[in-house]
Amino acid sequence: MPLMISNRFAKWNLIAISVLLSVVYFGIETAGQSPDLFRFFGRLHPIIVHFPIAVIVCALIFVVLNKMRWVSIPDNVVNITLVLGSWSGVKAILAGLWLAQTGGYPAETLFLHKVMGFGATSLCAILIYLRTSDHRILSKPVLGRLCWALMTIWLVVGGDLGGRMTHGKGFITQYAPGFVVAVLGQPNPMKERFDLSTPGTTTVFDGIISPIFVEKCSSCHGGERQEGKLGLHTMEAISTHEGDEPLIVAGRPEESLLIKRISLPEGHEDHMPPLFNAKPLSFSDAELIKWWVEEGASFETLIADANLPADIYTILQAYGLGEIRTGVFALDIPAPDSTLIANLRAKGVLIDILAEGENLLSVTCKGVASCFTAELDSLAQQVTWLDLRGSDVTDVALTKLASFPHLTRLNLSNTGITGDSLAAISSLAFLEYLNLYGTKVSDASIQHITPIKTLTAIYLWQTAVTPEGVALLKAALPEAEIDTGVLEN
Ligand code: HEC
Repeated sequence: MPLMISNRFAKWNLIAISVLLSVVYFGIETAGQSPDLFRFFGRLHPIIVHFPIAVIVCALIFVVLNKMRWVSIPDNVVNITLVLGSWSGVKAILAGLWLAQTGGYPAETLFLHKVMGFGATSLCAILIYLRTSDHRILSKPVLGRLCWALMTIWLVVGGDLGGRMTHGKGFITQYAPGFVVAVLGQPNPMKERFDLSTPGTTTVFDGIISPIFVEKCSSCHGGERQEGKLGLHTMEAISTHEGDEPLIVAGRPEESLLIKRISLPEGHEDHMPPLFNAKPLSFSDAELIKWWVEEGASFETLIADANLPADIYTILQAYGLGEIRTGVFALDIPAPDSTLIANLRAKGVLIDILAEGENLLSVTCKGVASCFTAELDSLAQQVTWLDLRGSDVTDVALTKLASFPHLTRLNLSNTGITGDSLAAISSLAFLEYLNLYGTKVSDASIQHITPIKTLTAIYLWQTAVTPEGVALLKAALPEAEIDTGVLEN
């Protein structure tokens, strides 16, 4: 006698599936441990899961074709297909839970994926019950359609979440034609991994290190699960960890347990992350974590302020770090007026754009009588390098430089200035280079520049400044190189 899916059968099927799913839901913890054989079965989840999906989609196609009256497939066939779908769904869920136990999956995505799987499987059993019921309300087609709609959404979303967990974001769009990418959006996995777009306001920890920990470590060292009593998901968890050995010794990667554990040979049983159950750390991930510890394991250092050795810079560039702009280059300076530039050039002033695409200017007044014209004043925002070597600039004219806020290099060598007016420029916030070679500056007047903490190079050769004056200056500006033309011994 052929199998007929009666309402009675459907009811028992629904009860059996519900009981089983509840037992499985509460009985198998995704964070728990199971024997290897189960884990092996778990690894087959990505293959097994396609069977219930295909079967359910088949049933849906049957229903739609029947509705359109293109074919006539007996209701019983559709119901049998759905019974197959519900039971193979349970099997896929079991495998999924054992796979989850092997670790390394982001907790939130995993949870949603799990809900979709359980949901689609129970819906399948509910549908069979509704379809075989002759109850006035239950057999209404609207209920059935609702179930189908929900099921379709859950299968699509659940499948996508599953794909993301196994292959990472962007797996589908990577080779897709342009129009598909336009619809789905193209995440660039390299460029999205770290937050490098605003190095001036993002810390090394938030932008680079934390994303590595979240992606590669926090499935076992996160909010839910803290293997070895270690959490790597927040600053607090990292800085308050207490173990037998110090987790991080700032500046000393070789003494930090964190670095020791990730630097062990892959086959070593203490190697982190564990060989089989987690996403491995790439070479560059490990290098970045080491660099962070080496540089003091700070949670505050901004990417723009961090010391970036060439190899680290290369790694970060590959992840989309642009040129790091500091000092005047980080400012938004308006474009200079080109007629002013042309007029000054006509007078013999040499003017150049400091760098391609920048609005900053380098100006040289060598041999030009009275360089300080109203035209130059109008370029005060843009002039960054000013070379007044050998010009007729006077102490009085020098006071005007206070209104050139972006000067980084100022050359006053071989001019008649005495330095008495240097106090006027002590407010320049970016000045790095000051050349006073061959001027009349003295021990007293040179002290006017001590407030300019940005100075890194000062030239005092052939001036009246004595070694005592230099010593005073050096004490006030320890970072600056002071060149007096005398070799230090
Ligand atoms: C699949 C799970 C898993 C992942 C992923 C994982 N770990 Fe672990 N980790 C463990 C377990 C289990 C322990 C405790 C047993 C041990 O010390 O080996 C541990 C211990 C540690 C310890 C020692 C803590 C202490 O004080 O004893 C460090 C350090 C560590 N892990 C770092 C990491 C880092 C860094 C990552 C990411 C790159 C990572 N782990 C990823 C499972 C994991």
